[in-house]
Amino acid sequence: MKKYLKFFFLFSLFIICAYGAGRLYYALTGGFTLGNISSNLSYNEKWVTPPLSLSEKEDLHQILSQKFRYLGKGCQSYVFASEDGLYVLKFIKYQRFRPQAWLDYFASIPFVNRYRLAKIEKKHNKLNMLFTSWKIAYEHLKPETGLVYVHLNKSHDLKKSLTIYDKLGFAHQLNMDEMEFLLQKRATMLCSTINNFVTNNQMDEAKKLIDNLLKMILSEYQRGYADNDHALMQNTGAIGTVPFHIDVGQFVVNLNISDPTVYKQELFSKTFKFRLWLAKHHPELKTYLDKHLLEIIGPEMHQLIPRLKNPHAWSVEA
Ligand SMILES: Nc1ncnc2c1ncn2[C@@H]1O[C@H](COP(=O)(O)OP(=O)(O)O)[C@@H](O)[C@H]1O
Ligand SMILES: [Mg+2]
Repeated sequence: MKKYLKFFFLFSLFIICAYGAGRLYYALTGGFTLGNISSNLSYNEKWVTPPLSLSEKEDLHQILSQKFRYLGKGCQSYVFASEDGLYVLKFIKYQRFRPQAWLDYFASIPFVNRYRLAKIEKKHNKLNMLFTSWKIAYEHLKPETGLVYVHLNKSHDLKKSLTIYDKLGFAHQLNMDEMEFLLQKRATMLCSTINNFVTNNQMDEAKKLIDNLLKMILSEYQRGYADNDHALMQNTGAIGTVPFHIDVGQFVVNLNISDPTVYKQELFSKTFKFRLWLAKHHPELKTYLDKHLLEIIGPEMHQLIPRLKNPHAWSVEA
C-alpha cells in the first residue's frame, strides 16, 4: 500500500512539475516558435492583392531592412516592432488554425473522424475569415487600419531576408517570400493617447481624436464595413489625433450595416465600454463623446442597450 502511495505522490509531483515548466516556458516565450508562424499554404487566387508601385516597393524594402523585435501577441497573431519604432509586423498564429494532430491517429473510428473533419472545416473557415479580413482592410480600409502591406500568398519577388528577435531575445531569420504577414504603422493605444493628451493639457487634441474616431467608424459603416470585434479600447490605436484599427482580424463586408437603424445600435454597442472608461477617468470627455453620439444616434440612444456579445456576427461577403 505504502509503495502505491509513494508512486502516486511521485507521479503527481511529476505532473505538477511538467505543468509548471510548460506554463513557465509559455510565459517566457509567449508560445512563439518559427513553426507556429509558418505554413505550407499554397498559392490561392483569392488572396491576390493589387501590385505595389515602384516607390511603394522601395519603401517596403527600406522598412523590411530593419530588425524587428517581439512586441506582443493577440488571439490571432504575433506582433514584432521595427527598430525605428514606426512599424509592426504581424505573423499568423497558425497553431490556432490547425486541427489537433493527435486526432489523425484515431481517424479510423467513425465518430472521432466526424469530429475531426468538423474541426478541420471549422479551423479552415476561421483562417479564411482572417485572410478575408486582412484583404478587406488592405484593399478598402488602408487609412483606417494604418496598413502598409499585406502578403497573403507566398511569392518569389520580395527577396527579403528579415531578422526577428523573439520574446527571449533569440534571433530568427525569415525568408519573407515564404511568410504570410502584414506590415502596419505602429500606434499608441487609444486610452494611453487620451491619457497623454489630458496629462499634457491638450484637451482639444483629445476631443479631436474622439471626433476622428466617430467619423472613422461611421464612414466604415456607411460603406458597408463592419468590425466584428467589439473590443474598441484594445483594438484601437492612434498616431496623434488620428485613430486607426490596429487589430484587422475581424472585418467583414455587410451592406446591412449601412442601414442607420443597424449602425446606430452597432455604434452604441461599440462605444459602450469606452464611455464607461471615460466616465471613470475623464468625465469631461465622456460628456463630449455622449453629445456627439446623441447627434448621430438621436434621442433613441437613451433606450438602447449594448449588445456586447456578437452571437449573430456579420457574415463574410468579400
Ligand atoms: N499597430 C500596432 N501598434 C502598436 N501596438 C500594436 C499594433 N498592433 C498590435 N499591437 C499590439 O499587439 C497586440 C496584439 O495585436 P492584435 O492586432 O490585436 O492581434 P490579434 O489579432 O492577434 O488580436 C495589441 O493588443 C497591441 O498591444
Ligand atoms: Mg487583438
